[in-house]
Amino acid sequence: MLLAPSLIFLLASHSLLPGVSADVISDLSGKGFTVSYPGASNYTTASQPFNFRYAYKPAVITYPTTIDQVSQIVKVAKADGYNVVARSGGHSYVANGLGGKNGSIVIDMQNFTRRAMQCQM
Ligand SMILES: Cc1cc2nc3c(=O)[nH]c(=O)nc-3n(C[C@H](O)[C@H](O)[C@H](O)COP(=O)(O)OP(=O)(O)OC[C@H]3O[C@@H](n4cnc5c(N)ncnc54)[C@H](O)[C@@H]3O)c2cc1C
Ligand SMILES: *[C@@H]1O[C@H](CO)[C@@H](O)[C@H](O)[C@H]1NC(C)=O
Ligand SMILES: *[C@@H]1O[C@H](CO)[C@@H](O)[C@H](O)[C@H]1NC(C)=O
Ligand SMILES: *[C@@H]1O[C@H](CO)[C@@H](O)[C@H](O)[C@H]1NC(C)=O
Repeated sequence: MLLAPSLIFLLASHSLLPGVSADVISDLSGKGFTVSYPGASNYTTASQPFNFRYAYKPAVITYPTTIDQVSQIVKVAKADGYNVVARSGGHSYVANGLGGKNGSIVIDMQNFTRRAMQCQM
């Protein structure tokens, strides 16, 4: 079978797990999010579990920095049919920060570093 070069590129660049659509990656990238996904060179590190007994494979890992960005990611996930899960330290014994199963969208909180405090006078 002959594949068009662009299709070969797509397959090579997104050698995705079954059920991971390229749409969700482009939907998130299109909104300016830094993402990691199966096939990307940074995915092995980004998806590494703390406990290697539970090595689930997320569909996409995202790194929002604001509440609004979290909201946008949840909306894209819902529109594209994915479960979302937050990851903080990533030390859950059963890898719940990776979704506790394959194919979730992980919202990694590592760059969610701004804080605001309202003081009552
Ligand atoms: C070897 C080992 C020993 C442990 N010993 C103990 C122990 O003695 N006592 C104990 O209590 N626990 C223990 N744990 C469990 C671990 O400490 C807890 O699961 C802890 O809550 C992990 O925190 P985390 O920030 O790494 O969470 P993550 O692994 O990132 O996430 C854990 C869960 O919290 C959710 N979550 C994370 N961040 C957010 C957020 N911002 N908003 C909403 N939901 C969020 C995730 O979606 C996930 O379901 C142990 C784990 C391991 C691997
Ligand atoms: C991971 O690699 C992909 C492909 O090179 C890149 O687009 C993306 O920005 C990287 N993600 C992170 C979190 O560095
Ligand atoms: C999750 O995906 C990995 C990689 O494709 C696979 O080896 C593993 O069996 C899957 N786990 C489950 C529970 O489906
Ligand atoms: C997290 O923030 C730092 C500092 O702004 C930035 O250099 C880094 O690329 C961000 N990481 C991700 C995964 O977006």
